[in-house]
Amino acid sequence: MAEETKDTKSSNQMWGGRFASGPAAIMEEINASIGFDKKLYAQDIRGSIAHATMLAHQGIISNEDKDKIIEGLNTILSEIESGQFEFSRKLEDIHMNIEARLATLIGPAAGRLHTARSRNDQVALDFRLWVKEELQKTETLLTNLITVFLKRAEEHADTVMPGFTHLQTAQPVTFGHHCMAYVEMFGRDRQRVRHAIEHMDESPIGSAALAGTGYNIDRHMTAKALGFREPTRNSIDTVSDRDFALEFLSIAAICATHLSRLAEEIVIWSTSQFSFIRLSDAFSTGSSIMPQKKNPDAAELVRAKTGRINGSLIALLTIMKGLPLAYSKDMQEDKEQVFDAAESLELSLAAMTGMIGDLEVRADKMKAAAGSGYSTATDLADWLVREAGLPFRDAHHVTGRAVAMAEEKSCDLADLSLEDLQSIHAAITADIYNVLTVEASVASRKSYGGTAPDEVRKQIKWWRARN
Ligand code: ARG
Repeated sequence: MAEETKDTKSSNQMWGGRFASGPAAIMEEINASIGFDKKLYAQDIRGSIAHATMLAHQGIISNEDKDKIIEGLNTILSEIESGQFEFSRKLEDIHMNIEARLATLIGPAAGRLHTARSRNDQVALDFRLWVKEELQKTETLLTNLITVFLKRAEEHADTVMPGFTHLQTAQPVTFGHHCMAYVEMFGRDRQRVRHAIEHMDESPIGSAALAGTGYNIDRHMTAKALGFREPTRNSIDTVSDRDFALEFLSIAAICATHLSRLAEEIVIWSTSQFSFIRLSDAFSTGSSIMPQKKNPDAAELVRAKTGRINGSLIALLTIMKGLPLAYSKDMQEDKEQVFDAAESLELSLAAMTGMIGDLEVRADKMKAAAGSGYSTATDLADWLVREAGLPFRDAHHVTGRAVAMAEEKSCDLADLSLEDLQSIHAAITADIYNVLTVEASVASRKSYGGTAPDEVRKQIKWWRARN
């Protein structure tokens, strides 16, 4: 091997053939990715084993060399996993760190592993395998969160609370219905995850630097060995494509945005002003100065991590936007964005699952709030339409006058006397009091997807069959 005779201190052992001297210290620093891409060691080794096996099967390398390569790679895997492997920044990245160690372990046969491949298709493969596995983890985490929400929804299918628009009391809903709204959101996230796994299920290896290779390789064989549906079709696109990373980040950003909205509700609901919920001790913290405080830190941090995750998406979109085909070194900056977002998302999903599972629902407070703010005004208007035959616009106006009267008397709609109500509209009868309670209000909303407890139970059943 020509490289073996070279002074590795002066030029790179892997590609330094035409270089007389080594890189400037600052060049080495800006160029190296080993600090973060060592996370890809398992995928790199798996990819190399599949590649070497295929090369031998195709008669491109000998079986003897292939066996040595695989044995050496397995040794490296256990060295890394037991913390004995020495990563070197001089060797730039995970690919060259592993290959250099392989050369030390098995000698010249190591130099045959890189036949018919390039680091360009190698990194595309390793990173794609990593992202695919991360998406599979995300799918499981989302299922856990959905499961917890279904349980809470079932417990609280009948628990009334105020429903809000503009964060102003709008109409009574059930807490179960509100929980099921989140099931829908996280269910869509999980569908996005599943679609993304399908999109990226193509093997990049064998695209080589960008143009494919003159060796008689079998890309279908490596694709199958690595668990991909099929090989990618265009070698230029393959080494310049980071859509799989962008899709992961887009999904993560949307999901984090959902988590952030939930976090915001938890923060609001746990205030003494709302008191809809009490967070468990396990998911809150105290204040070092104010002994009475119990802070929703976990929810706040989930809300904040959304900023990091959304930032990662914008960062990678911006990294990619000006790149001509095919590979450019800019693309090395893809990994930290994805690794950081993945860590934040995993943590956020797990923390939210814990918080939702643990939190105490204060049904009494929710019910009291549900009845305030004239939340059944729409029910009064609907009664006038249904029972007195008024056009909805007129009923809306009559109800508005009833609300103004209740406001003047500082009471709820249900506290107005029949005489008072009849002074506003003569058609009103005592039957009106049957729709002015929050229970009657939610029970009446039986439209498909509505808040009536039986409708909510139907939603839960639909999801249970699909979770
Ligand atoms: N460390 C590089 C990356 O992450 C590997 C690919 C390098 N390819 C190259 N032609 N320099 O993108």
